[in-house]
Amino acid sequence: MTTRRHSDPQRLRRDFPILSSRIDGQPLIYLDNAATTQKPRAVIDAISRYYSRDNANVHRAAHTLSARATTAFERVRGQLAEWINARSAREIVWTRGTTEAINLVAQSYLRPRLHSGERILLLESSHHANIVPWQLVAEQCNAHIDVLPVSDGEIDLERCQQLLARRPRLFALTQVSNALGSCYPVAQLCRLAREAQVPVLVDGAQGLPHFDIDVQALGCDFYAFSGHKLFGPTGIGALWAREELLDEMPPWQGGGEMIEQVSFSGTRFAGLPFKFEAGTPNIAGVIGLGAAIDYLQQLDRPALEAQEQALLRRALDGCADIPGFRAIAAGAQQVSLFSFLIAGQHPQDIALWLDRHGIAVRAGHHCAMPLMSSLQLPGTVRASFAFYNTLEEVDQLVSRLAQLVAEQRSSVAVTSAVGDWRRPLEQVYAARDWSQRYRALMQLGSQLPALAEQDRSDRHRLHGCESRVWLLLNTDANGKLACQADADARILRALLGLLLNEVNGKTPAEVLALDLRERIAQLDLQRHLSPSRGNGLNAMIDALLDFARSDPDPNTHLD
Ligand SMILES: Cc1ncc(COP(=O)(O)O)c(C=O)c1O
Repeated sequence: MTTRRHSDPQRLRRDFPILSSRIDGQPLIYLDNAATTQKPRAVIDAISRYYSRDNANVHRAAHTLSARATTAFERVRGQLAEWINARSAREIVWTRGTTEAINLVAQSYLRPRLHSGERILLLESSHHANIVPWQLVAEQCNAHIDVLPVSDGEIDLERCQQLLARRPRLFALTQVSNALGSCYPVAQLCRLAREAQVPVLVDGAQGLPHFDIDVQALGCDFYAFSGHKLFGPTGIGALWAREELLDEMPPWQGGGEMIEQVSFSGTRFAGLPFKFEAGTPNIAGVIGLGAAIDYLQQLDRPALEAQEQALLRRALDGCADIPGFRAIAAGAQQVSLFSFLIAGQHPQDIALWLDRHGIAVRAGHHCAMPLMSSLQLPGTVRASFAFYNTLEEVDQLVSRLAQLVAEQRSSVAVTSAVGDWRRPLEQVYAARDWSQRYRALMQLGSQLPALAEQDRSDRHRLHGCESRVWLLLNTDANGKLACQADADARILRALLGLLLNEVNGKTPAEVLALDLRERIAQLDLQRHLSPSRGNGLNAMIDALLDFARSDPDPNTHLD
């Protein structure tokens, strides 16, 4: 093995070109590493080199490029097997990522074994990727799902044993919670499962980015991870499984590559691991992942993890002094990721404020809705660190959060002047840059008239937004739109204000003739708000257009 380099974050940062970029003139502070990590130059170059010099399909052709591509592709399989201490490269199946790896196990391993009335054991804090595939298979087989609760970030081992005693057909575990950062005692849990003769799948999506792992020592049966959270490319990941299990499992997708012989009277499948890899694989992704593993293997990962822990402590200590700050409990062991709330501030508004200062964090349910509902939270803000983050960046995060709270306190007098939302509305359109527009949006968000409490009900709730949004779709006596709306995040109230301003007072035909999306696009909000998913702008526009299309009768309340 190569000698391990020292772990100087300032030096390592230079390996990541994107980290020297600026967001609206401010240096990027990237604290959304649990969603995806940034890529070192070595990974970017390896992919570019592959496409510039070696690009060919693998395994099939008898020409030089194909041989080169195949050698490079299979080399990475061997490299990964060695890195995670698999017994052989035959135990590594390429997938698009963790999600696909879990679906593969659900459909190819569990489905043929799962009988009506049998059970699957899941962890309450699982990512949806480690819940929904099991729900699908449970439904297909008429099986039950048991949930192992998590309390204050900890798993109750006694409860775990009780649930294992019900002999579930599989225990789907998570190494590290992506929502809270909790690091679970996976080896111990695997031991309990083994004693109960229950096979275990470990979702390692958030584990491998922090620690080198040894799948044999861990004692699990399946381990899934994604390359993009591991400083590698998107669209590639892997499933590791014990060879004897893979041998017994049927292919789950059919096509080229996974066969040995095909005729219309039947097909003979290829051996391991190819029988699980139908179609042309993500060759460049595998090559890029290989470069990411090479990169990680040069690092002193335990030292880097210790530095990341120092970042976490600095952040939590610094934020503790911010009025209203609350970190969500993650348990005794926590990776460098924390989820938090600030009293009186919606997570989306906090994330947008931080983005305005070049700081990228994530707000929402983090694809862990069951956990959020057990914590009775609509969502949180999550800051997640990687080894290239610095203490200075953490200090920036803390001071921007403190500034947000201070500014909110001093603007209470202004925000209570509810009613006059025309001025901020005009300012949104007149703003010359994002900073001005952001301020006007926030004013607009606080001054839009609130709906009465009884109207903030499920009946008027608009789905498709991460935050809660309510729309009262009405027309006035003249058949013109007279809608009202509300949301629990200021930014969403601002977007609603913009939309209401566009549609109210117009007939349905006039609304349909407007290009609402274009009107909003002119404000250049998309760059900051990812309207396609996060804030539900599209859902709001669709609801208003659907209402206009329905040609509502005057005075009829529709919802
Ligand atoms: C714990 C966990 N599991 C699974 C996934 C799904 O990973 P992917 O979308 O790369 O398949 C994620 C992604 O955020 C995750 O954090």
